[in-house]
Amino acid sequence: MRTQVAIIGAGPAGLMLAHLLSLEGIESMVIESRARGYVAHRVRAGVLEQASADLLDSTGVGARMRSEGLVHHGIELRFGGRDHRIDFGALTGGRGITVYGQQEIVKDLIAIRLSAGHPILFEASDVRLHDLKSERPSVTFLLDGASMTIECDIIAGCDGFHGVSRDSIPAGVLTTYERKYPFSWLGILAGVAPSSEELIYSYHERGFALLSMRSPTVSRLYLQVPADERIGDWSDARIWTELQTRLAADGWSLADGPVTEKGISAMRSFVVEPMQFGRLFLSGDAAHIVPPTGAKGMNLALRDVSILADAVASFYKGGDTRLLNEYSSSCLRRVWRAHHFSWWMTSMLHRFPNSDAYQTRLQLAQLAYTVDSRAASTSLAENYVGYEWTT
Ligand code: FAD
Ligand code: DHB
Repeated sequence: MRTQVAIIGAGPAGLMLAHLLSLEGIESMVIESRARGYVAHRVRAGVLEQASADLLDSTGVGARMRSEGLVHHGIELRFGGRDHRIDFGALTGGRGITVYGQQEIVKDLIAIRLSAGHPILFEASDVRLHDLKSERPSVTFLLDGASMTIECDIIAGCDGFHGVSRDSIPAGVLTTYERKYPFSWLGILAGVAPSSEELIYSYHERGFALLSMRSPTVSRLYLQVPADERIGDWSDARIWTELQTRLAADGWSLADGPVTEKGISAMRSFVVEPMQFGRLFLSGDAAHIVPPTGAKGMNLALRDVSILADAVASFYKGGDTRLLNEYSSSCLRRVWRAHHFSWWMTSMLHRFPNSDAYQTRLQLAQLAYTVDSRAASTSLAENYVGYEWTT
């Protein structure tokens, strides 16, 4: 088989890239190791930056997000038993975020692709990348027990942190930057109306907690837990008690309800440079991971592929490789900004295992300054809704 662009992975990055390329009239094949049902129901991110929501809208996949997503113009920082609102609307000239589950975006992108008759090859195994330095790279894999080969011009490695693409690059080519955090997030989905209209990021002596949501009837909540924590040790009752303790505020209470899904995610910062090797381009979590505080991961993945789609389109228009050559540096500027923001939010809001009273005072001093100073609040707000470079 032959295609123009072989895309490894049907997460937000791979599916959005396939969609953007098809709008440019460029043919692609998406190769995914998991089943369609698994991909469409994997509960992960939920916050779209302004530009991510605009991208879905402007490319014709925003209809359900616009009717079911929740547009927010602020978040609450909760500490000392009180809320301090960061008003995105006032601080960023009316910009905001949209709360809409990652798996809903994935469903919308799968639907639009399949309805146009373009392929997604689910449940591919033993995926391997070949001849990345040549002008005719290829991908081999097994599908229903049969060996398949796809020849192409370009391979997009959109297969997440644990995928095969990054590891297909020879040793010594990539520089890796990494930080592991000594805690994880325990996340739940619960069938109960959110107890707050806006997200609440709560700093507490027992650890960080976050109230988010997916709809007017579904809450999404997170707790900081030790890095090696096992989900089996957390009964629903224990989770609610801990959430109620860490989210407590004067005159406010957290409503509980049935937990429909729960899991623990490790937290790390990770970047490889460059995000390219020959005709292989890495996008999204395949190239970089942020800790979730600040909700940047999926947004970065969508940015990468919109930069890549422009570069690929320019390549097919007149053989111009300039944008492809600049792909990595164009992405990395935004990636590092988001890394700093996510690291900063994580450091300010979490309880570190060996932290002492001095560190706690520093965190509280930073929180107090962030909510009091217009400059500091604006910095948080403009990064949260998505910082747009002016140069
Ligand atoms: P993925 O979503 O990981 O997709 C990669 C795909 O490749 C998968 O479908 C996988 O099955 C497939 N694959 C893997 N290996 C292979 C292979 N060998 N061959 C073929 N296919 C393969 N981000 C935000 O922006 N906002 C948030 O609010 C947010 N909250 C989060 C909360 C949690 C608890 C977690 C865990 C993450 C959160 N993120 C958030 C991060 C976000 O979910 C990721 O950054 C996003 O999924 C990255 O998309 P991706 O397409 O690059 O990778
Ligand atoms: C959600 C996830 C995040 O990482 C975050 O910072 C805010 C919200 C969410 O899943 O809703």
